[in-house]
Amino acid sequence: MIDFRPLTETDFPRLCDWLNRPHMRAHYQKVPVEIADVEKKYSPRLSPSHPTRCHLACYQGEPFGKIQCYLLQDYPDFAAEIGEDDGVAIDLFIGDERFMGQGLGKAMLRSYVQDVVPSLFSGTLNCFVCHAKANKVAIRCSLSAGFRPHRDVIEGGEASLLLLFGRST
Ligand SMILES: CC(C)(COP(=O)(O)OP(=O)(O)OC[C@H]1O[C@@H](n2cnc3c(N)ncnc32)[C@H](O)[C@@H]1OP(=O)(O)O)[C@@H](O)C(=O)NCCC(=O)NCCS
Repeated sequence: MIDFRPLTETDFPRLCDWLNRPHMRAHYQKVPVEIADVEKKYSPRLSPSHPTRCHLACYQGEPFGKIQCYLLQDYPDFAAEIGEDDGVAIDLFIGDERFMGQGLGKAMLRSYVQDVVPSLFSGTLNCFVCHAKANKVAIRCSLSAGFRPHRDVIEGGEASLLLLFGRST
């Protein structure tokens, strides 16, 4: 149902548009961004050797969201913040709000964890997502995708819930 393709430079205007949409302000993108900000942040990530792997999620061929993953060992500050040093972390959002609330968030996350992450990072790895506790929909989404609550953490100064895929806690 959902396909993933690597982010490309031609996606930057779309990504910039998505990041500036009102539904992104509460949690994922709290301040407006300009196209130059997007280019600066994401251009390095287009390289297959960059530690963060970025993808667009498509439904019936139409891009609707962005999802990315990275090894915690490549981001020691974040790893220390969440108290884990081994595994993969995932961030996601639905950029086009027309696609929200239809089960695509949980389907995207589950499919990504099961199909994409193992193809990028070999070995048995824990997958983590971290959501602000106030982001009830994101937490609900990750629970429905098969993640389980792992630990309360403070991420970016905000009370958050770390969730783990595939293991009971
Ligand atoms: C979080 C997000 C990815 C969820 O995707 P989604 O497609 O809207 O959610 P889904 O339709 O897959 O629903 C997931 C669960 O949340 C529930 N849900 C969805 N929208 C809801 C809402 N507005 N209010 C309450 N519950 C809601 C669904 O019922 C479902 O739970 P269930 O499986 O127990 O029935 C999406 O809302 C989003 O991108 N939000 C903005 C960015 C963000 O917060 N990203 C995550 C932070 S890292």
